[in-house]
Amino acid sequence: MTTAFAPAAFTSAAAISTTAAAHKAPAPHSQSATAPRFDMYVAIHKALRSFMTDTLFRVGRIDVQDADDTGRTLAQLDELLTFCTGHIEHENDHVHAAIDARSPAGAARTSGDHVEHLETIAALRCDAVAMQTARPEERAMLALRLYRHLSLFVADNFQHMHYEETANNAALWALYTDAELMQIHGCILASITPQEHLLVARWMVPALSPFERAMVVGGMKQQTPPEALLGVLAHVRPHLDDSAWGKLARAIGVPQAPGLTHFS
Ligand SMILES: [Fe+2]
Repeated sequence: MTTAFAPAAFTSAAAISTTAAAHKAPAPHSQSATAPRFDMYVAIHKALRSFMTDTLFRVGRIDVQDADDTGRTLAQLDELLTFCTGHIEHENDHVHAAIDARSPAGAARTSGDHVEHLETIAALRCDAVAMQTARPEERAMLALRLYRHLSLFVADNFQHMHYEETANNAALWALYTDAELMQIHGCILASITPQEHLLVARWMVPALSPFERAMVVGGMKQQTPPEALLGVLAHVRPHLDDSAWGKLARAIGVPQAPGLTHFS
């Protein structure tokens, strides 16, 4: 099943609030300084912020005496950490490489952050294993340690993502045209597995504004077979409330419920 997001969809969504002028980026080539620019960070970072905070809340309220609850929570943590690792690799291989190619060491700060993040991810995995394998009387204390360490990781990532969305975007916009940035983003999408696309959809689609959501999913609708689109929608529907789902369904022209072919 093809579930890849369409670069064109991200282009449209990114144009909502991101302008070169807003971040004082020089205009590359012939593009206007006030024209909306392609922002490859905005949607994926909203997904990451949502995934991180949800997981942090779950770790904070974990019931260490309940094996099922502990297992589910740690499974989500594992999924988040794997997601973060993949995101770092995509940014290193494509985004930082692009910045450094036209501005040597231009991505040095966020590349250094990534090294620290990978070390923290490894440490968090050790915390999780220590909690899961500890004696029952030790688990609550180790769960609190995991929660605090995860909260610091989340806090650091929030700072890091803001820097990428401002300083790194300013560099990208100064160094590349939107057509070139879309090409870079397309390479990232092409490197992502179908399973990773589904996980991205799970966290990204609910995290976006209705307009952004319609742009992203509408872009998918243009470029994916209907059965693939329905598969993604079925995957994200449980995470949208009725209002959000209704707006999305109307915006992209799909039935609001299985079997419906027209809107009332
Ligand atoms: Fe990053």
